[in-house]
Amino acid sequence: MQANARNLPLAEESADVPSRGTVEALSATTTPEDARPPSTSSIPSTPVQAVLRRLEQEFARILEAPEVPNPGAAPAEPIFVTRPFLPPLDEFTPLLESIWRTRVLTNGGPYHRELEDRLRDHLGVPEIALFNNATTALIVALRALHLSGEVITTPYSFVATSHALLWSGLTPVFADVDPDTLNLDPAAIEAAITPRTSAILPVHCYGHPCDVEAIDAIGRRHGLKVIYDAAHAFGVRHRGRSLLTYGDLSVLSFHATKVFNTFEGGAVVCGDATRKDQIDKLKNFGHDGETCVVDIGMNGKMSELNAALGLVQLKYVDTALDRRRTIDAAYREGLRGVRGVRCLDDAGEDTANYSYFPILVGPDYPLSRDALNDALKRDGIHPRRYFYPLISEFPMYRSLPSARRDLLPVAALAADRVLCLPIYPDLDAAVVARVIARIANP
Ligand SMILES: Cc1ncc(COP(=O)(O)O)c(C=O)c1O
Repeated sequence: MQANARNLPLAEESADVPSRGTVEALSATTTPEDARPPSTSSIPSTPVQAVLRRLEQEFARILEAPEVPNPGAAPAEPIFVTRPFLPPLDEFTPLLESIWRTRVLTNGGPYHRELEDRLRDHLGVPEIALFNNATTALIVALRALHLSGEVITTPYSFVATSHALLWSGLTPVFADVDPDTLNLDPAAIEAAITPRTSAILPVHCYGHPCDVEAIDAIGRRHGLKVIYDAAHAFGVRHRGRSLLTYGDLSVLSFHATKVFNTFEGGAVVCGDATRKDQIDKLKNFGHDGETCVVDIGMNGKMSELNAALGLVQLKYVDTALDRRRTIDAAYREGLRGVRGVRCLDDAGEDTANYSYFPILVGPDYPLSRDALNDALKRDGIHPRRYFYPLISEFPMYRSLPSARRDLLPVAALAADRVLCLPIYPDLDAAVVARVIARIANP
């Protein structure tokens, strides 16, 4: 098993995965009547729900125990911070067979269209454009808004957030984060605005909403565009509506590590059909019809394979969220009262997605954050120091004036203290109990 850039071993990154380009992406854009794919709404229910229900009961039993349980033996297999959710293979196979039959592999095929429709309804957003990943989606979103100069962003994120700015010829200006949410602090944003600022690129870190009311108001007041990196925020609702409807554009990731995955994938959420049409052209080389190219687009299209998987995944996403909620509650309950450990609270969202479980290891905990990380690893549990180091500390950013650590004290402290604990739908209750016991008795 090999590690990806996030250092997360992922089964699908094994050496026998065909490299990009081994399957030619050739397709017709129309589907003949007899080649229609099987309807995904008729997929029968499967044992996955039963397994998840059994885990639910195990959790209830462990949480009823009066004492923190004895950690016992280390897990047989290493436990990583996440494990991609997959639906039963036999539900995916008929869709694959249809792709093989029709040879519609990409270019906005029937599964792509169906997934856009279903996601629009599921998420409650006006328009959505699917992408091959969130990094491409971010770059296209920035291009669609015709930005220039400086963009204010957070140093406390995955590096793709700022990389999208550099790829777009924009200068990241780092601002500090709020100590409660670890999302961009609106006051710090306002202080960072210069005549060269054209936009704000905040991140809904861990799926917790930024202060969207304040940030959108700053955007309006100063004539700045607001693009939310919502890679972590699938399904989150805030003040009665989808969190993805704030700002000018929001970008989702459907990477294997995310709450909803299509192996790789992403999307731009936008407010109207005209904007979607522009974005759809930008993700298709800038083509407007067969012979006309209207912009310097790129290839950001989601393939039929990824879209088909997304359709099957969507059936399970609510059950998976329920399981995440149970695990989140178990950690909070078990770690309550552990001196020196703070579980990051939600940010007041109506519907959370429990995509990560970050704790902050303070100076009154008996071990440093790194020592606790090492202790858990010795036990077969592999949390992540997510996000550490700060983006502003990577070589291509550290010489920017806004990258100075002393200007980003809250983000710097969080990066030194944070540890994300394992959380994923089929994580065993006994493992959660073991993690809690280890942290309580290091
Ligand atoms: C905050 C954030 N932005 C962007 C990305 C990039 O997403 P993708 O891997 O789909 O390109 C990630 C991925 O982990 C992320 O965490």
